[in-house]
Formats: sequence, C-alpha cells, structure tokens
Amino acid sequence: MNRKLLKSVREYKKQAILAPVLVTLEVLLEVLIPLLMANIIDIGIMQGDMNYIIKTGLLLVLMAMVSLAFGAKAGQVAAVAGAGYAKNLRHDIFYKIQDFSFGNIDHFSTSSLVTRLTTDITNVQMAFMFSIRMLARAPIMVVLSWIMTATINLKIAFLMLVTIPILGGILILIAKKAHPHFIAVFDEYDVLNNTVQENVNAARVVKAYVREEHENEKFHKISKKVFDLFTKAEMIVAWNAPTMNFVMYTVVLLIVLMGGEDIVLGTMMTGELTSIMVYAMQILMSLMMVSFVFVMIMIAEASSDRIREVLEEVPEMEDCEDALTEVANGDIDFEHVDFSYAGEDGNLSLKDVSLHIKSGQVVGIIGGTGSAKSTLVQLIPRLYDVTRGCVKVGGQDVRRYSLEKLRDQVSMVLQKNVLFTGSIYENIRWGDENASNEEVRRVCQLAQADGFINEFPAGYNTMIVEGGNNVSGGQKQRLCIARALLKKPKILILDDSTSAVDTRTDALIRKAFREEIPDTTKIIIAQRISSVEDADMIIVMDNGKIDGIGTSEELLKTNAIYREVYESQVKGGAEDE
Ligand SMILES: Nc1ncnc2c1ncn2[C@@H]1O[C@H](COP(=O)(O)OP(=O)(O)O)[C@@H](O)[C@H]1O
Ligand SMILES: [Mg+2]
Repeated sequence: MNRKLLKSVREYKKQAILAPVLVTLEVLLEVLIPLLMANIIDIGIMQGDMNYIIKTGLLLVLMAMVSLAFGAKAGQVAAVAGAGYAKNLRHDIFYKIQDFSFGNIDHFSTSSLVTRLTTDITNVQMAFMFSIRMLARAPIMVVLSWIMTATINLKIAFLMLVTIPILGGILILIAKKAHPHFIAVFDEYDVLNNTVQENVNAARVVKAYVREEHENEKFHKISKKVFDLFTKAEMIVAWNAPTMNFVMYTVVLLIVLMGGEDIVLGTMMTGELTSIMVYAMQILMSLMMVSFVFVMIMIAEASSDRIREVLEEVPEMEDCEDALTEVANGDIDFEHVDFSYAGEDGNLSLKDVSLHIKSGQVVGIIGGTGSAKSTLVQLIPRLYDVTRGCVKVGGQDVRRYSLEKLRDQVSMVLQKNVLFTGSIYENIRWGDENASNEEVRRVCQLAQADGFINEFPAGYNTMIVEGGNNVSGGQKQRLCIARALLKKPKILILDDSTSAVDTRTDALIRKAFREEIPDTTKIIIAQRISSVEDADMIIVMDNGKIDGIGTSEELLKTNAIYREVYESQVKGGAEDE
C-alpha cells in the first residue's frame, strides 16, 4: 500500500503492529491442533487408551480456546487500527482542503472531493484492516502447515509444493483481470455522486421546471452503468470459488490416493492422514483469503491514488515571507491585468485591464453576463491570482499581504453566496466572532435587515437552515451584506448582491453606506442601472475588457453599451419591481 498515506496511521501504529503479532500466536496454536487430533486417533483410539484420549482432548480444547482468544483480540485491534487510520486520513484531507485556493477547488470537482473523503477512505480502511490480519496469517499458516505435512509425509508435501503456486497464480490472475473494471467503477462513482449532489441541491429548481422525469432518466443511466461495471468485475472475481473447489477436491483425492497407499503399506497411520487433510484445507483457505485481500488492496490502490492527489495538491497561494498585515487604505489599482482561469496559456477572461479607484469611492460595475465582472473583482481579495500584470490594494501588490489580513480588509459578498445552519446571530458573526449583539444589530440595520429580522418570532435567534432556504432571496442577500460589513472592511465588494432586493430597499442600503461608512471603498456590481447610477464612477465591462469608465452622465454621452442599457431600463419604464 501507499507509503506516504501510511504516515497517517500515527498514534494507531501500536495496534497496527500488535494485530499481526496476535495473529501469529493464533496461527502457531492452530497449527498444533491437527497434530493432537492425529495423536488422539493413532494412539488413544488405536490402543483404546481412554485416559490419553481425555487428557489430550482437554489439551486440544484449551489450545483451541486460547487460539480463539488471540484471534478475537487480533480482530479487535485491527479494527481499531483501521478505523483510526481512516479517521486520521479524513482529518488530513479536510485540513488540506481548507488551505485550497479557488483555483485548487476548480481543479477537483466538489463531488469528487466528497467521494474521496468518504468512499475512497472507506476502501483504504478496509484494505488496511484486512491486510494487517490476513497478510500475516496466510503466509505463516501456509509455511507452518506445509512443514507439518512434510514431517508426516514427504511425498504429499511435494504434491502440495507443486499445487500451491499454481493455485496462487490462478487466483492472482483472476484478481488482476478484475482490477481495471473496479477502477472504472470508481470513476463512474464520481459521476454518480455529482448527479445526486446536483439534483438534491437543486431539488427546488428541478420541481419548478418539472424536470423530475429527465433527472430520473439521467440518474438511471449512470446508476445502470455503475451496475454493469460492478457486475462485470464481480463476475470475474466469482471464478475464485469454483476454481478453489475444483483444486480442493482434486488435492483431497490425490492425498487420499497417495496416503491410502502408504496406510496399506503401513508407512503412515490413519490419524496422520486426517491431520494432513486438515493442513491441506488450511493452506487452501489461506490462499483464498489472500486472493480476497488482494482484490481489496487493488481497489484500495486506486482509492489511495485519489486520496494522494488531494494531499499532494500544492496550495496555490501561500503568504510570502514578512507578509504585510496592514492595509493602508481602500485604494485599488489594476495595472495591465490579464487573467485566465486556466493559467498561462489559457483563454484570457480579462484582457489588459487598467484602472484606479480612490479610497472611499463608490464604484458601480455593469455589463452583460459573462463579461467578466465577477472575475474582475475576485482579483481584489486575491481569490485568484493575476496571470499577468498586478493588482494593488492600499498601494501594495495584493501578493505582498498576508491572505488572512487582506481578506479581512477586503470584504466580498459573493454572487453565489450561502448562509450556514445556525442562528442569525451565528451567521452574521462569521464576519467577526467576537462582535457584540449591538454590533451585529448595527450592521443589520445598515444592510436594511434589522426590520425583517425583528418580525421573526425568534428575532436574531431565528435558525437558518439548508444554506438559507428558509428566508427569501432578498433577505438572504441582506444577511450576507451584513455579515460582510461586520468585518469593518476598507473595501466592500457586492457582486450582484441586491438583485433580489426591491429598488426602494436597495436605495436605502446605498444611502446607509454613504452616510455610515464613508471611508470604505464600495464596489457594486449590478444589473440595474438604478443601483449604480449615483456612483462616483461606473465601469462598463464587455467581453473581458473595460468598455468605458465615468459617471453616469459622462457615459450617457460617450458609451453606447451604457446608453442602451440605460434607455431600455429607465426610459422604457422596464425598471423591475
Ligand atoms: N471558475 C471558473 N473557471 C473557468 N472559467 C470561468 C470560471 N468562472 C467564470 N469563468 C468564465 O469567465 C468568464 C467571465 O465570467 P464572470 O466573471 O463570472 O462573468 P460575469 O460575472 O460578468 O457574469 C466567462 O466566460 C466564464 O465562463
Ligand atoms: Mg458574475
């Protein structure tokens, strides 16, 4: 198994070592039992010595019991070691994901990360648990049983020496043949999880569009594919049992033939033949176990590769040495910024963007969907790094700051925002966990959320569930704005964050911003002209480029896109709500 992953065993190393030791003791006793049985038959029964039979019989029971105790304990510690290993791995991955940048997260899909945290870890856990038990048990059992057989009858021991490798080879061959099918199953699991996750997350949308039928069909198709792949793999593995049975009966037959001859000739006794039979069974059983564990290890191998990928992913952003912890003011500069989501050679989402925003200004950004409005502002709190050029905040390149401090000072309300399960108090305190109730109330007043919160029977203790599905879209947006305000940022970015708020409330929010946080730079992305009309500066984005910058008045004269949007919304009376 994977060396690097095994480091995560950590404090469970003791159990992981103890398990094979206990298994060894179990096997040592188990191997002696057939020998005692042979003695009972050959000495006790043949000579009619009742005393000997009872004495040896008791010893046999005692040894069986002690062996059983060792075996049970071995199972226990192996289970603890396996579960502990899985727990540590899960922790390691979880912490690692917390360090991921947006770019890192784009690299894996969310559902794939979930599969890796769950199914893949379970696979590794099972393989580990069975490995530390079976991989110690099988070889010791095979070797000792064979030695015992050899002390009784060399001829039969030779027979085994030929059959064991052949059988082992066949079993491994079967496992190897099944392997690629198992890999395919797990790749398909990702797709399955993705579909389920998407569907369950968007259950309300699916219902609204009456797409249940279509979704069912989509799910059925993938589910069928997983079924087919699994059956294919298992059908190959299913050859294990008949192969084993065939070999077992052949071996038994040969042993009886060869042993029978020796018994007739008087060179071997009946009891000895019985114990050789038992040894043969034990050897075959062990091989069967090995092939079973072998399949498991191969499945886990694919899983551990997928886990390792996450653990080895290099977090894209790390603080530089002597990183700055203070943001001087809310100045923002873009200097010839190119940006691509795919890195150096990718398609540019932003092309040669330069602009200057003074601290405390209100800046509106407008432009069609896909014109790169979100992309532009995401560079300010360094959710992504520029591909070329540089972005400065407070006169310093954003890459010079400690990420934590930068993001404390540049507060962004994301376009796709979520609330978390918990009370309204708890949700707003994401912005600052030490904020007093008064402070929470103040930012909620600023975001025009205080009014509706007080109308809830439980007020600020109202529980938010399912990412905020129990409040309206506009209420959710205002709670998200309040949460961002609690950080007392120098720069506040609202990415289409008032789209579901009525125009009157929208205006009240902007008025409150102007009056209550005049020194904070405010960047407002909006679809509505009215949301940006009174800004000190409006940026018109088009296809990754700045199409125009100026006040509403200036843009009406100089910018065709702005004029068109303005006329369709204001003059045409198409103002929503
Ligand atoms: N995470 C991402 N990975 C790759 N491409 C993206 C990602 N997010 C956005 N894009 C692409 O970047 C372009 C600009 O998107 P965006 O900034 O979200 O536009 P807007 O916010 O103006 O609607 C679009 O072509 C979009 O497909
Ligand atoms: Mg956007």
